[in-house]
Amino acid sequence: MNVLPEDFTILALETSCDETAAAVVRGGRTMLSNVVASQMELHQRFGGVVPEVASRQHMLSLVPVVNEALRAVPEGWDGIHAIAATCGPGLSGALLTGLNAAKAMAWQRNLPFIPVNHLDAHIYASWIKTENGKQQTNGERRLKSLKRSEPEPGNGSDEPPFPLVALIVSGGHTILALLRDHGDYQLLGQTRDDAVGEAFDKVARILGLGYPGGPALQQAALGATPAGVLPRAWLRDSFDFSFSGLKTAVLHKVQERQDLSERLPRQGASERRQGGRAVPPATNPPPPPAPEPAQQPTVSLDSTFVAQMAHAFQESVVDVLTTKAVEAAARYNAAAIILAGGVAANLRLREELTRRATVPVRCPPLALCTDNAAMVAAAAFYRYDADSTNVWATDVNPSLKL
Ligand code: KG4
Ligand code: ZN
Repeated sequence: MNVLPEDFTILALETSCDETAAAVVRGGRTMLSNVVASQMELHQRFGGVVPEVASRQHMLSLVPVVNEALRAVPEGWDGIHAIAATCGPGLSGALLTGLNAAKAMAWQRNLPFIPVNHLDAHIYASWIKTENGKQQTNGERRLKSLKRSEPEPGNGSDEPPFPLVALIVSGGHTILALLRDHGDYQLLGQTRDDAVGEAFDKVARILGLGYPGGPALQQAALGATPAGVLPRAWLRDSFDFSFSGLKTAVLHKVQERQDLSERLPRQGASERRQGGRAVPPATNPPPPPAPEPAQQPTVSLDSTFVAQMAHAFQESVVDVLTTKAVEAAARYNAAAIILAGGVAANLRLREELTRRATVPVRCPPLALCTDNAAMVAAAAFYRYDADSTNVWATDVNPSLKL
């Protein structure tokens, strides 16, 4: 690793999925700005991210987002020493927009270009300094933002101590890794099927909670009176994970519930029913686009049941993730545990991991858990290799590994 000066300032772009983000970070740890234009509303009506729509929106948002991020740098472009961008993993079209924009800006201004692995970036969210749970920046903006006001533990201002155990939990990945030093990583375990964020999103959809699923499911679980538990896939003697069985368990409970509701007469529905089975009304509207049959509730579920399912699902996920992370930290004598990725925003996971861990737990503030460019700039500071000659040939890699 090159040792860069403390005032080395990086402008980074992040466009791997549905957030167009730009940020400026000084010395790898001090955030000057962090701007995120969320496309959430755009994709909401499709129930998930539409790759082509995401790429086109990145093209529209990139310039305003970069301009906004630069406003926090007193010297403007003269204060930028390198430009970084996420090169993978992610959606290829979306990645291409940010990577090529960053290369073009760096080439034009004769600045170094630093490609960054998105998973590595999630880890480095824990390096960004915070004070009393608040990020040290005036330039933080979430354009069309997710409104989040929960209390935030923050990173503090001390650097995370190696060796570390990192639990990376996002929409596409569930990884437990041992970090011996910057860039010296050992994979301890990963999911064998669904990523944990994907499981949150799919279960939220089964329960009719909409998109994005993780925050909606967390919210639904808050109001639950706990009733029953769902299975946990322990995969003993392994740090691997599996969440598809849990997802199917929720689906079966929902189907049982729906069968029951179908058999019970419902108020207002009797005139459309014959012999206990629902029949369509006389004049049929055009059929809606075919939902994924196994993942869409056909009979609306009552809110008590939805809350109980959300609660039981979240408890199962949190129990498995927490147990494995705590065991890994003990086995490898880790000095701390780092929580990273979009699901690290889950308040129950943060709470339970902090409660059970025997070493300090670093949870980045919520805005640095989900996709952002500040984490990309932080990772770029520690990954910059001034001697590397082939960075300009770096292409996007949708399935890049840690
Ligand atoms: O890291 P991220 O923003 O994008 C990827 O790199 O995948 O993670 C997105 C994932 C989504 O699956 C979303 O539902 C989940 O993070 N997520 C949550 C919460 N906030 C976001 N899952 C559970 N609880 C939350 N509060
Ligand atoms: Zn991510």
